[in-house]
Amino acid sequence: MGSLRRSYYNLFSKFYDRIIELHSHDPQGRLRRALAARTGLKAGDKSLDICTGTGAVPPVLAEKVGDDGLVIGLDFSRGMLQKAAEKISTNGLKNVALVQGEAQHLPFKAGIFSAVTCSHAFYELKGEIREEALTEIKRVCRSGSKFCMMEHEVPKKRSIRFLFYIRMLVAGGLRSRTFLRQEIDLFRRHFSEVKKDILPGGNTKVICGIIK
Ligand SMILES: C[S@@+](CC[C@H](N)C(=O)[O-])C[C@H]1O[C@@H](n2cnc3c(N)ncnc32)[C@H](O)[C@@H]1O
Repeated sequence: MGSLRRSYYNLFSKFYDRIIELHSHDPQGRLRRALAARTGLKAGDKSLDICTGTGAVPPVLAEKVGDDGLVIGLDFSRGMLQKAAEKISTNGLKNVALVQGEAQHLPFKAGIFSAVTCSHAFYELKGEIREEALTEIKRVCRSGSKFCMMEHEVPKKRSIRFLFYIRMLVAGGLRSRTFLRQEIDLFRRHFSEVKKDILPGGNTKVICGIIK
């Protein structure tokens, strides 16, 4: 199943940026900046973006940590990482590295990151993998660090809400709708000071928690 999903994302990587460009109402990357702003990252920090895809988030984290810091973008799809590498090289970012790996088996030492982010991918991790990923996030972070997740908020318009649930079903399976109702409880089980913000426009939310 894991390799099937990886193959799907390898194929998807060829169209991903184009599709996001067409659907996104965020050509200037304001939403991703809002995610980075909530991490509390400072110059010199090390930060991890899991399920980084084509690397949309690392550049905004790189602005926060500066030349003395480091941002790692992790993804299990080689195709997605190739696109991310092109983006990082075009932008001449020296403080960003890409690692192929799984969110549920992070290939890093304990306690090295000051923040972990996950943008539009957490719903795609199925039940057990999601729990394992949360355990791993806590392991690789310093205590007091933040985990911030950005996802679509459930659309208010009924027709769009229907499409949203179809997407969740395809990507995250039958239990993802239940997860949607329980996500704050899940965060509270793993993190303290859990906070949910709806970003301007109303379609996107960021949920952050502090690693105990
Ligand atoms: C919808 S894309 C989101 C990409 C990016 N974060 C963004 O905001 O554009 C989901 C990404 O999660 C990755 N992914 C899914 N499951 C994963 C796992 N278990 N470990 C690592 N990456 C995973 C996929 O390869 C894909 O690149």
